[in-house]
Amino acid sequence: MPWVTNAREMQSEVAEGSDVVAGRVAVTGMGTARQCALELVVAHRADLADGVVGLVLEDPAGGPLPEWTAGAHIDLELTDELVRQYSLCSSPDDRRRWGVAVLLERDGRGGSRHVHRHLGQGSRIRVGGPRNHFPLQPARRYQFIAGGIGITPIMPMIERAASDGADWHLLYGGRQRSSMAFADVLAGYGDRVTFWPQDELGMLDLDSVLAESRDDTLVYCCGPEGLLGAVEQACAHWPASALHVERFSARPDAPAPSEGALDTFDVVCRKSGITVSIRNGESILEALRDNGINMIASCMEGICGTCETPVLEGTPDHRDSVLSADEQAENDYMMICVSRSLSPTLVLDV
Ligand code: FES
Repeated sequence: MPWVTNAREMQSEVAEGSDVVAGRVAVTGMGTARQCALELVVAHRADLADGVVGLVLEDPAGGPLPEWTAGAHIDLELTDELVRQYSLCSSPDDRRRWGVAVLLERDGRGGSRHVHRHLGQGSRIRVGGPRNHFPLQPARRYQFIAGGIGITPIMPMIERAASDGADWHLLYGGRQRSSMAFADVLAGYGDRVTFWPQDELGMLDLDSVLAESRDDTLVYCCGPEGLLGAVEQACAHWPASALHVERFSARPDAPAPSEGALDTFDVVCRKSGITVSIRNGESILEALRDNGINMIASCMEGICGTCETPVLEGTPDHRDSVLSADEQAENDYMMICVSRSLSPTLVLDV
């Protein structure tokens, strides 16, 4: 099974930088030019842990897939109405296959149930992306922290860190050992990985890895909201740029409207050549769609990054949970499902 994320075993079969077969990949041209739409086939399905299935996706014709980097995710278009994001957990060096791992969330909104019930070997599925809002920045040392299925984006990060010769450690928590995907692969890294099954050891001991602020270390964390909040607190004395997190849901303290946020404003769509007036209580995304601009979107909560849109002029009022504070301050992109405007006019590259 191609679930091993050891770099040597996941050697690329495709030369670095190979072109994707023309015509099979459609760059959307809307939102961000980094989005592609593919029809892939489930080449393998495997049980990775309690409640977690792994899917290996391949091009039905055996062609290479678009390049991606550690931390990226893809959109699985499960039905016309059901689009869900899953982190890629295979090797970025493997251009022939993408791996995702999906935890069954019985009280969720239906995406994971659909995957578990309906996707098996041979299933065809449309896939968008990959996109990366959780990129691995260069560092001499990494402290990775994963909770449950939050291990998925960390797997390719570990491969990257190891191949770059960086020092790294992973603190990996789960409800119990049997629920912790990739435990067998990670055990091969010896004491670089600390497993923390909650039923045996209690809550994750964050102080053991975060008490000392280190200038040479970046912290990457993915997991449930409770863990992310605890890690953010535990890193309060670290340099502001040291902590990188990826959320599954909107942050509880999701940005409120900024002072000066406008109830109504205009959006100039540079590519489409139209100007759309945004009403009070209406999202930019809805207004653009109502005016015939077919923007791609998924979560509608500012957490998935699907609707990321380049900003050419004007000042957005960012209300998403995707962009970092620095990225929001740069005002180069915005999530138009939730964010609004501080200036009377926004010019977007759509
Ligand atoms: Fe998910 Fe906008 S649709 S961030």
